[in-house]
Amino acid sequence: MKILIVGNGARESAIALKLSSDKRISKLYFAKGNATTELLGQNIYEDSIEGLRDFAIKERIDLTIVGPEAPLVAGIVDEFKKHNLKIFGPRKRTAELEGSKAFSKKFMQTHNIKTAKAKVFEAYQDAIDYVRTQEFPLVIKASGLAGGKGVVIADDLAEAETTIHRFMIDRIFGDAGIQLVIEEYLRGFEASIIAFSNGEKLFPCIPVKDYKKAGNGDTGPNTGGMGSVAPSPEFTDVHQKDFEENILKPTLEGLHSQNIRFKGFIFFGLMVTKDGTYLLEYNMRLGDPETQVILALMENNLYDVIMDCLDGNDIELKFSDKKAVCLVMCSGGYPRQIETGFEIRNIEKVEDSQVLFAGARMKGDKIYTDGGRVLSLVATGDSFDEARKKVYQGADIIHYDYEYYREDIGKF
Ligand code: AMP
Ligand code: GLY
Repeated sequence: MKILIVGNGARESAIALKLSSDKRISKLYFAKGNATTELLGQNIYEDSIEGLRDFAIKERIDLTIVGPEAPLVAGIVDEFKKHNLKIFGPRKRTAELEGSKAFSKKFMQTHNIKTAKAKVFEAYQDAIDYVRTQEFPLVIKASGLAGGKGVVIADDLAEAETTIHRFMIDRIFGDAGIQLVIEEYLRGFEASIIAFSNGEKLFPCIPVKDYKKAGNGDTGPNTGGMGSVAPSPEFTDVHQKDFEENILKPTLEGLHSQNIRFKGFIFFGLMVTKDGTYLLEYNMRLGDPETQVILALMENNLYDVIMDCLDGNDIELKFSDKKAVCLVMCSGGYPRQIETGFEIRNIEKVEDSQVLFAGARMKGDKIYTDGGRVLSLVATGDSFDEARKKVYQGADIIHYDYEYYREDIGKF
């Protein structure tokens, strides 16, 4: 069997590692991949949907798994299905649940899914008039994909007006800012739950805590994720029940009532407040760095559960009782100005953690930094402390110029 994995982060490296021990799989291809995936398979330098489709036809790829959102929103699944190519993910229309915050908010409101109160705006003046009547903080979101940068928590009216101007008039995110979602600010802690969908039912994985801020103690700018732990120690059975009743169940009913039957992943970005669990957003894919800890604890064969979902079969997900910690090592300055191209040393000396590369590329037999998030270290243990010690030992051993990582991942 030949499998194509689209993406190049540590999430795709984690998928690659999980699949690489499956004897039925003869070859793994990655577009465009990274240093880990080059070691486990073959990287191909193709990123257009047509190019990937032609590659899958020519190489007789048996299954394609899509990591990031952009190809899903651009319609890679529709194109592959047109050519009878097996692919795990939602069609373009369904990917709009991630690709358009206006669309997903309307979906949540229509189907009584517990979410922050919000309004959608298409006209600049209407948005300005609205924020002048509101209390702060207020959350302003560009509706379209903005690489995780399209959400601003405005602390006062001046910041709200500037943000609306930058999104709608300056168009700093292009067409993503044509529509805005402006919503109430929710105070609490966040959790991520990712579910597999077999077209009929949703099968949730264990809840994950993602560390989004660049600095220790959740300070500094938002990033793509500086680390993660699973299962989330904050998310209790009470929160889980609230999630299942007020978010998971109505989401499934909503999908059915709109005749959306997709086979792929659905990611619930949650905010737990003193009034319960709210849905902030859907992503229609696996999360990064959530995937690294989920797959470290998942006891199922990943290929089998994906194929079962594609065949419309029910699955029974099994997770180990252990704790998992993922520490992301970055290039100094991330998520702002970074310098790359530095050799990453001592990888072979790391013993107790998986080293999953992201922004790192091979040149000869050496590996060099090549992005903001350079690699993930992943370990499991009987306690968070044990897993945490292992990843920090790994981070101590690995060296490259301008390395940076948070010191408080998995510390409770
Ligand atoms: P989103 O892409 O909608 O999940 O937003 C990105 C991040 O912005 C979230 O992970 C939260 O940290 C924050 N955020 C989004 N919506 C809200 C809200 N209504 N209240 C507080 N924080 C929010
Ligand atoms: N960790 C959040 C995401 O993958 O979008």
